[in-house]
Amino acid sequence: MSAARMGVVSAIAQEQQGLLESLQQARRVRHGSRDYTLGRLWGRDVVLVLCGIGKVAAAATTTSLIVEFGCDALLFTGVAGGLGAQVRVGDVVIADRLLQHDLDARPLYPQYEAPETGLSRFDADPALTERLHAAAQRLFSKRTEALVDADVRQEFGLHAPRVHRGLIISGDRFISTLADSDALRQALPDALAVEMEGAAVAQVCRDYGVPFALARTISDRADETAHLDFGRFIRTVASPYSQALLSELWRSELTDGQADPAGR
Ligand code: ADE
Repeated sequence: MSAARMGVVSAIAQEQQGLLESLQQARRVRHGSRDYTLGRLWGRDVVLVLCGIGKVAAAATTTSLIVEFGCDALLFTGVAGGLGAQVRVGDVVIADRLLQHDLDARPLYPQYEAPETGLSRFDADPALTERLHAAAQRLFSKRTEALVDADVRQEFGLHAPRVHRGLIISGDRFISTLADSDALRQALPDALAVEMEGAAVAQVCRDYGVPFALARTISDRADETAHLDFGRFIRTVASPYSQALLSELWRSELTDGQADPAGR
Protein backbone atom coordinates (compact mmCIF):
# COMPACT_ATOMS: atom_id res chain seq x y z
CA MET A 1 0.00 0.00 0.00
CA SER A 2 1.24 3.52 -0.64
CA ALA A 3 3.02 5.28 2.20
CA ALA A 4 0.81 7.41 4.38
CA ARG A 5 1.64 10.98 5.22
CA MET A 6 1.78 11.51 8.97
CA GLY A 7 1.09 14.90 10.53
CA VAL A 8 3.19 15.47 13.67
CA VAL A 9 1.82 18.26 15.84
CA SER A 10 3.22 20.03 18.90
CA ALA A 11 2.06 23.18 20.64
CA ILE A 12 5.33 24.91 21.53
CA ALA A 13 8.53 25.42 19.51
CA GLN A 14 10.91 23.76 21.96
CA GLU A 15 8.73 20.63 21.91
CA GLN A 16 9.48 19.99 18.26
CA GLN A 17 13.10 21.10 18.09
CA GLY A 18 14.60 17.62 18.14
CA LEU A 19 12.24 16.33 15.46
CA LEU A 20 13.02 19.25 13.18
CA GLU A 21 16.74 18.54 13.55
CA SER A 22 16.21 14.93 12.44
CA LEU A 23 14.03 15.83 9.45
CA GLN A 24 15.45 15.08 5.99
CA GLN A 25 14.53 16.73 2.70
CA ALA A 26 12.83 19.47 4.70
CA ARG A 27 10.64 21.90 2.82
CA ARG A 28 8.71 24.65 4.58
CA VAL A 29 5.24 25.82 3.50
CA ARG A 30 3.43 28.73 5.12
CA HIS A 31 -0.33 28.38 5.40
CA GLY A 32 -2.87 30.22 7.57
CA SER A 33 -0.22 31.89 9.78
CA ARG A 34 1.66 28.65 10.45
CA ASP A 35 4.77 26.98 9.08
CA TYR A 36 4.33 23.39 7.96
CA THR A 37 7.60 21.54 7.42
CA LEU A 38 7.34 18.62 5.03
CA GLY A 39 10.05 15.97 4.86
CA ARG A 40 11.19 12.45 5.73
CA LEU A 41 11.61 11.28 9.31
CA TRP A 42 13.01 7.77 9.88
CA GLY A 43 11.62 6.55 6.60
CA ARG A 44 8.22 8.25 6.94
CA ASP A 45 6.63 10.97 4.90
CA VAL A 46 5.74 13.58 7.55
CA VAL A 47 4.46 17.11 8.01
CA LEU A 48 5.69 18.79 11.20
CA VAL A 49 3.80 21.76 12.57
CA LEU A 50 3.52 23.88 15.67
CA CYS A 51 -0.15 24.47 16.28
CA GLY A 52 0.28 27.00 19.10
CA ILE A 53 -1.40 26.79 22.47
CA GLY A 54 -5.10 26.11 22.98
CA LYS A 55 -7.98 24.21 21.42
CA VAL A 56 -8.86 26.64 18.62
CA ALA A 57 -5.27 26.77 17.39
CA ALA A 58 -5.03 22.99 17.59
CA ALA A 59 -8.31 22.38 15.76
CA ALA A 60 -7.50 24.82 12.97
CA THR A 61 -4.05 23.31 12.44
CA THR A 62 -5.42 19.77 12.46
CA THR A 63 -7.95 20.69 9.78
CA SER A 64 -5.19 22.15 7.60
CA LEU A 65 -3.01 19.07 8.02
CA ILE A 66 -5.84 16.86 6.84
CA VAL A 67 -7.45 19.03 4.18
CA GLU A 68 -4.54 21.05 2.77
CA PHE A 69 -1.60 18.72 3.36
CA GLY A 70 -3.31 15.37 2.84
CA CYS A 71 -2.25 13.83 6.15
CA ASP A 72 -4.00 10.51 6.73
CA ALA A 73 -2.80 9.99 10.30
CA LEU A 74 -1.79 12.37 13.10
CA LEU A 75 0.51 12.18 16.09
CA PHE A 76 0.66 14.79 18.84
CA THR A 77 3.69 15.09 21.10
CA GLY A 78 4.22 17.58 23.90
CA VAL A 79 3.89 18.15 27.62
CA ALA A 80 1.06 17.96 30.13
CA GLY A 81 0.35 18.50 33.80
CA GLY A 82 0.01 15.32 35.84
CA LEU A 83 -3.32 14.70 37.60
CA GLY A 84 -3.32 10.97 38.41
CA ALA A 85 -1.80 10.10 41.77
CA GLN A 86 0.89 7.92 40.19
CA VAL A 87 1.71 10.33 37.36
CA ARG A 88 4.97 12.10 38.15
CA VAL A 89 7.09 14.75 36.48
CA GLY A 90 9.15 13.04 33.78
CA ASP A 91 6.60 10.25 33.18
CA VAL A 92 5.01 9.74 29.79
CA VAL A 93 1.26 9.48 29.26
CA ILE A 94 -0.28 7.97 26.14
CA ALA A 95 -3.92 8.95 25.56
CA ASP A 96 -6.45 6.28 24.83
CA ARG A 97 -9.33 8.77 25.22
CA LEU A 98 -9.53 12.57 25.37
CA LEU A 99 -12.13 14.94 26.79
CA GLN A 100 -12.61 18.74 26.83
CA HIS A 101 -12.92 19.57 30.52
CA ASP A 102 -14.14 23.12 29.85
CA LEU A 103 -16.87 22.18 27.36
CA ASP A 104 -20.22 22.74 29.00
CA ALA A 105 -23.35 23.38 26.92
CA ARG A 106 -25.75 22.43 29.71
CA PRO A 107 -28.73 22.33 29.74
CA LEU A 108 -28.71 21.77 25.97
CA TYR A 109 -26.22 18.89 26.17
CA PRO A 110 -24.65 16.94 29.04
CA GLN A 111 -21.53 18.42 30.56
CA TYR A 112 -18.41 17.73 28.44
CA GLU A 113 -20.41 16.48 25.46
CA ALA A 114 -19.39 17.94 22.11
CA PRO A 115 -22.68 19.04 20.55
CA GLU A 116 -23.91 16.93 17.62
CA THR A 117 -21.37 14.18 18.26
CA GLY A 118 -23.05 12.40 21.17
CA LEU A 119 -19.56 12.08 22.67
CA SER A 120 -17.64 13.55 25.56
CA ARG A 121 -14.71 11.14 25.31
CA PHE A 122 -12.99 10.87 21.95
CA ASP A 123 -11.03 7.70 21.34
CA ALA A 124 -7.50 7.81 20.07
CA ASP A 125 -6.91 5.30 17.27
CA PRO A 126 -6.48 1.92 19.01
CA ALA A 127 -3.89 0.46 16.60
CA LEU A 128 -1.70 3.55 16.38
CA THR A 129 -2.01 4.08 20.14
CA GLU A 130 -1.03 0.49 20.80
CA ARG A 131 2.11 0.86 18.72
CA LEU A 132 2.98 4.19 20.33
CA HIS A 133 2.48 2.69 23.77
CA ALA A 134 4.60 -0.33 22.93
CA ALA A 135 7.34 1.95 21.59
CA ALA A 136 7.23 4.05 24.77
CA GLN A 137 7.49 0.93 26.93
CA ARG A 138 10.45 -0.37 24.95
CA LEU A 139 12.20 2.98 25.04
CA PHE A 140 11.70 3.82 28.68
CA SER A 141 12.51 0.35 29.91
CA LYS A 142 16.06 0.71 28.60
CA ARG A 143 17.66 3.91 27.35
CA THR A 144 16.49 6.86 29.40
CA GLU A 145 19.79 7.64 31.11
CA ALA A 146 21.29 8.62 27.77
CA LEU A 147 18.42 10.92 26.81
CA VAL A 148 18.79 13.52 29.55
CA ASP A 149 21.98 14.86 31.16
CA ALA A 150 22.60 13.78 34.74
CA ASP A 151 22.51 17.39 36.04
CA VAL A 152 19.14 17.97 34.34
CA ARG A 153 17.77 14.74 35.84
CA GLN A 154 18.89 15.95 39.22
CA GLU A 155 17.55 19.47 38.73
CA PHE A 156 14.04 18.20 37.93
CA GLY A 157 14.20 15.28 40.35
CA LEU A 158 13.63 12.82 37.51
CA HIS A 159 13.44 9.09 38.11
CA ALA A 160 13.12 6.29 35.57
CA PRO A 161 10.05 7.37 33.58
CA ARG A 162 6.89 5.33 33.88
CA VAL A 163 4.59 4.99 30.92
CA HIS A 164 0.87 5.46 31.61
CA ARG A 165 -2.09 5.05 29.32
CA GLY A 166 -5.59 6.43 29.80
CA LEU A 167 -7.74 9.56 29.78
CA ILE A 168 -6.15 12.94 28.99
CA ILE A 169 -8.24 16.07 29.39
CA SER A 170 -7.87 19.36 27.53
CA GLY A 171 -9.09 22.90 28.10
CA ASP A 172 -8.21 26.51 27.35
CA ARG A 173 -6.64 27.03 30.75
CA PHE A 174 -3.15 26.43 32.10
CA ILE A 175 -3.79 24.68 35.42
CA SER A 176 -1.46 26.17 37.99
CA THR A 177 -3.17 25.93 41.36
CA LEU A 178 -3.77 22.92 43.55
CA ALA A 179 -7.39 24.07 43.96
CA ASP A 180 -7.93 23.86 40.21
CA SER A 181 -6.23 20.52 39.78
CA ASP A 182 -8.11 19.11 42.77
CA ALA A 183 -11.38 20.27 41.20
CA LEU A 184 -10.47 18.48 37.95
CA ARG A 185 -9.50 15.33 39.87
CA GLN A 186 -12.79 15.39 41.68
CA ALA A 187 -14.86 15.95 38.53
CA LEU A 188 -12.91 13.48 36.38
CA PRO A 189 -11.22 10.97 38.69
CA ASP A 190 -9.83 8.83 35.88
CA ALA A 191 -8.01 11.72 34.15
CA LEU A 192 -4.27 11.07 34.12
CA ALA A 193 -3.11 14.41 32.75
CA VAL A 194 -4.29 17.84 31.64
CA GLU A 195 -3.17 19.89 28.66
CA MET A 196 -4.64 22.42 26.22
CA GLU A 197 -4.94 20.84 22.75
CA GLY A 198 -5.30 17.07 22.52
CA ALA A 199 -9.08 16.64 22.76
CA ALA A 200 -9.60 19.29 20.08
CA VAL A 201 -7.27 17.41 17.73
CA ALA A 202 -9.09 14.17 18.56
CA GLN A 203 -12.48 15.71 17.75
CA VAL A 204 -11.35 17.03 14.36
CA CYS A 205 -9.66 13.71 13.52
CA ARG A 206 -12.90 11.95 14.31
CA ASP A 207 -14.81 14.36 12.04
CA TYR A 208 -12.54 13.36 9.15
CA GLY A 209 -12.06 9.70 10.08
CA VAL A 210 -8.30 10.19 10.47
CA PRO A 211 -6.41 8.00 12.98
CA PHE A 212 -4.79 9.93 15.80
CA ALA A 213 -2.52 9.18 18.77
CA LEU A 214 -1.01 11.38 21.45
CA ALA A 215 1.96 11.16 23.83
CA ARG A 216 2.72 13.73 26.55
CA THR A 217 5.67 14.05 28.88
CA ILE A 218 4.60 15.26 32.32
CA SER A 219 6.22 18.65 32.91
CA ASP A 220 4.46 19.57 36.16
CA ARG A 221 1.76 18.53 38.61
CA ALA A 222 -0.71 21.25 37.58
CA ASP A 223 -0.20 23.15 40.82
CA GLU A 224 1.51 26.33 42.02
CA THR A 225 4.93 25.13 40.80
CA ALA A 226 3.67 24.41 37.27
CA HIS A 227 5.24 27.43 35.59
CA LEU A 228 8.72 26.93 37.04
CA ASP A 229 11.34 26.29 34.36
CA PHE A 230 8.66 25.25 31.91
CA GLY A 231 10.66 26.16 28.79
CA ARG A 232 13.81 24.58 30.12
CA PHE A 233 12.00 21.35 30.96
CA ILE A 234 10.56 21.14 27.45
CA ARG A 235 13.93 21.80 25.83
CA THR A 236 16.01 19.48 27.97
CA VAL A 237 13.56 16.64 28.73
CA ALA A 238 10.34 16.62 26.69
CA SER A 239 11.92 17.35 23.33
CA PRO A 240 14.54 14.55 23.54
CA TYR A 241 11.82 12.18 24.81
CA SER A 242 9.55 12.98 21.84
CA GLN A 243 12.39 12.55 19.40
CA ALA A 244 13.46 9.23 20.91
CA LEU A 245 9.87 8.00 21.07
CA LEU A 246 9.06 8.63 17.40
CA SER A 247 12.44 7.25 16.41
CA GLU A 248 11.72 4.10 18.44
CA LEU A 249 8.24 3.83 16.90
CA TRP A 250 9.29 4.16 13.29
CA ARG A 251 12.82 2.81 13.18
CA SER A 252 11.82 -0.49 14.77
CA GLU A 253 9.05 -0.84 12.19
CA LEU A 254 11.50 -0.13 9.38
CA THR A 255 13.92 -2.79 10.56
CA ASP A 256 11.39 -5.52 11.29
CA GLY A 257 9.05 -4.56 8.44
CA GLN A 258 6.19 -4.34 10.93
CA ALA A 259 4.54 -1.15 9.72
CA ASP A 260 0.81 -1.50 9.59
CA PRO A 261 -0.77 -2.21 6.20
CA ALA A 262 -1.60 1.44 5.68
CA GLY A 263 2.05 2.32 6.24
CA ARG A 264 1.34 4.47 9.28
N1 ADE B 1 0.63 21.63 29.81
C1 ADE B 1 1.66 21.35 30.64
N2 ADE B 1 1.33 21.59 31.92
C2 ADE B 1 0.05 22.04 31.90
C3 ADE B 1 -0.83 22.48 32.90
N3 ADE B 1 -0.45 22.51 34.18
N4 ADE B 1 -2.08 22.90 32.53
C4 ADE B 1 -2.44 22.87 31.23
N5 ADE B 1 -1.63 22.48 30.24
C5 ADE B 1 -0.39 22.07 30.57
